[in-house]
Amino acid sequence: MIILSIETSCDDTGITIMEAKGETRNPSFEILADNLASQTKIHIKYGGVFPVLAKKEHKKNLPILLEQTLRQAKLKDKKSPVDVIAVTYGPGLEMCLWEGITFAQDLAKKWNIPVIPVNHMEGHVFSVFGKNKPARNASRSDSGGGKFKIPKVHTPILSLLVSGGHTQLVLSKQWMKYEIIGETLDDAVGEAFDKVARMLDLPYPGGPEISRLVELERKSKLLRVRNFPTEKLLKSRAVALRTPYESSFSFSLPRPMLYSKNFDFSFAGLKTAVLYLIRKIGKLDEETKSKIALEFENSAIECLVYKTKKAIEKYKIKTLIVAGGVAINKHLRNEVKKSIGKNIKLFLPTKELSRDNSIMIGIAGYLNYIKNKKKIPKLDNIKATGNLSFSQARRA
Ligand code: KG4
Ligand code: ZN
Repeated sequence: MIILSIETSCDDTGITIMEAKGETRNPSFEILADNLASQTKIHIKYGGVFPVLAKKEHKKNLPILLEQTLRQAKLKDKKSPVDVIAVTYGPGLEMCLWEGITFAQDLAKKWNIPVIPVNHMEGHVFSVFGKNKPARNASRSDSGGGKFKIPKVHTPILSLLVSGGHTQLVLSKQWMKYEIIGETLDDAVGEAFDKVARMLDLPYPGGPEISRLVELERKSKLLRVRNFPTEKLLKSRAVALRTPYESSFSFSLPRPMLYSKNFDFSFAGLKTAVLYLIRKIGKLDEETKSKIALEFENSAIECLVYKTKKAIEKYKIKTLIVAGGVAINKHLRNEVKKSIGKNIKLFLPTKELSRDNSIMIGIAGYLNYIKNKKKIPKLDNIKATGNLSFSQARRA
């Protein structure tokens, strides 16, 4: 079956055409063509995604990318070139989601084929199985060559989903069933990276800038890479370092909710602690910026990894998935690898598939099509759902 997938939930416009085969537990995919138009440069001067502009860009990009993708997949002259369309319907910026949905609906009417609405977060879960590198922008596209299979993974599965809009721990006792067991009570971890980067006068998007600075700092002779702290050290830190203070060596920031009994996170307090620290210091030189960035990243990643480890123990997890834009972060990847037991199979996305892309939407779309063949929604019933969550997706 040929599936065309569309992603427009935030500031990346993506269109992919894949050939997909197999059942939900042993599907295989071949990417025929894939194009991604990044809007990062457009939003830089606003220091974040400007929704109206993002919507306008999606509208402009979609027909261009479609034409290009069909041509690369050698399907351009076919009357009905694909069998099904998958489109992200949430969560995300509603006005952007609508651009993708209405585009998909128009194509589906023209080609007389069904549309499968896809939960963007389920897309991130499946992104770890994709192998192809999506293109960075419309001028650098990728056609063909990407074949991959989804292996049979053991349940229970835990997914740590970390992006600019979400921070969730999702439990799957069964394949394609999802239960959120923990999430952020305020800011998403990627959002905290972006906001702290702004406080440190680093360019947008902040996440990559902070980790770039921190990697340099880690490599420097002044600071050696710290191992994931022992439980005892973590405990003493959580008690002693509620408020940030300055030492001659480096800075210390709190680890919010580290010892809360649930699997929730909080990053707003950490961000505020950085703000107070910066106010106290006054003028920031480059070295101080790097030290603050390092301590911020250590704190955020410690919180993520510690709760993930606890959830693995409680639910006797066999497979761990870490996905979303923040899954690019080197320190997160290293700490997760270090802290989980040898018996747990870890899946991480490639660098290119960590960020938003339409390959992951195609995978999730195909699997949902196979699973719910008899329950394909009516075309006009597909609605953008900005705050879509896993439980809503299950009920749909
Ligand atoms: O999944 P994604 O591409 O878009 C959303 O759905 O939000 O994630 C984007 C987020 C941004 O907040 C960005 O700053 C963050 O991922 N990010 C990073 C890194 N690279 C991107 N955060 C930490 N370290 C990174 N290296
Ligand atoms: Zn995302």
